[in-house]
Amino acid sequence: MDKFVINGGNKLKGKIEVRGAKNAALKIFAASVLTSGTVRIKNVPEVEDIVRISELLKNLGVEVLHPKHGEYRITAAKIKTSAINPKIAKKLRASIVLTASLLARAGNVKFPHPGGCVIGERPIDIFLDGYKTLGAKINYRNGLYEIKGKLIGAKFTFNNVSVTGTEAMIMAASLAKGKTILKNCACEPEIESLANFLNSCGAKIQGAGTPFIAIEGVKSLIGGEYQTIPDRIEAGTFAILAAATKSNILIKNCEPEHLDSLWNVLRKAGVRLNIGKNQVEVIPSGLKTVNVKTHEYPGFPTDLQSPVCVLLTQAEGQGLVHETIYEGRLLWTEELKRMGANVLMHDPHRISIQGPTKLRSRNIESPDLRAGMAYLIAVLCAKGKSVINNVYQIDRGYEKIEERLRKIGADIKRI
Ligand code: EPZ
Repeated sequence: MDKFVINGGNKLKGKIEVRGAKNAALKIFAASVLTSGTVRIKNVPEVEDIVRISELLKNLGVEVLHPKHGEYRITAAKIKTSAINPKIAKKLRASIVLTASLLARAGNVKFPHPGGCVIGERPIDIFLDGYKTLGAKINYRNGLYEIKGKLIGAKFTFNNVSVTGTEAMIMAASLAKGKTILKNCACEPEIESLANFLNSCGAKIQGAGTPFIAIEGVKSLIGGEYQTIPDRIEAGTFAILAAATKSNILIKNCEPEHLDSLWNVLRKAGVRLNIGKNQVEVIPSGLKTVNVKTHEYPGFPTDLQSPVCVLLTQAEGQGLVHETIYEGRLLWTEELKRMGANVLMHDPHRISIQGPTKLRSRNIESPDLRAGMAYLIAVLCAKGKSVINNVYQIDRGYEKIEERLRKIGADIKRI
């Protein structure tokens, strides 16, 4: 397993470019199974989760070509099996979305409970309820779900707002017979982008990006081309990194409109920002604390909760962080405490952070993708040598992060 060795405490400076959104590209890879035509996907981040979903697709007999950096061509002309490889699916939560496209295309799918980040319970009841509502039959045997049936359009209301749940139902309903109405849908930009892509392949989806989505099922979809939208979580992470290390960083190739809730929080914290059309400049500034509550889009993203906690350790005063989406996503702050942060846990969903504190360098384990990245920000704030182990977790979602951070002055190497 690779490690990062970091000498923290430097101010950073310069430009950093945002890659395509992992959580958008993964869904297009899954959606490519809905058609026997070729799907060309551009601006794909070269991250481990993309390697995993490519392996899953190849296992199904799908052709996955990678002609150049950031570009993939996927052709699911024939599907050899609709059993998703359990070993790989256990590493990737996004594999759950593939169950929808396989079920819709092949009429059946077999899969284990998906894996991914250890941030809470992460059940799949919404998917099962959704597929049942569309007429599928579900069996659970020897640790595997087996779902079968010809899908028929129906009305479905999500009892919990779910990003992948919404995406899965959009995919399943696109090839179902008749009309599907979805209510209480997630509104993330990745969902709107998925629907736009599917519509360009012949689907009839209206309302994506709002809580109400209507889908008129079609018989088949054709192949198409997709330009992956910029990764809003990566852009937000870089902005928080700049603010926490009091650095002047220009974040390029991003979509600032996708991060309005973050800009509000940063401005309240005293951070100066120059927001342009596709870029954001963070200007070093004094920091005062803020309260942050995570929420579904367009609220403050749970995926930015861990970086923002690090920011609050550097800000004056006591701030409350309320994680509303996942019950296990604040546990990573135990290690932040060992670095010197003054964190008080009220309950699994709420912590207070008193700042500013000098963080101490440390040898740490990256527990999951976003917490791993938050540790990276923390050790860049801390003077001295730190080591982050298990950087596979960071590589799952951030392309060659050490090379890109080195270009803006970070002292970091991979060993
Ligand atoms: C997506 O996960 C993202 N993953 C996550 O990013 C992100 O944190 C999350 O959305 C929230 O924004 C991908 O897109 C691959 P949810 P998802 O279903 O769809 C509960 C990252 O770091 N729920 O919107 O799995 C669930 O427990 C990852 O890139 C059910 O109760 O999240 C949670 O409390 C981590 N039953 C809430 O809904 C279900 O069947 C929202 O989760 C499904 C979910």
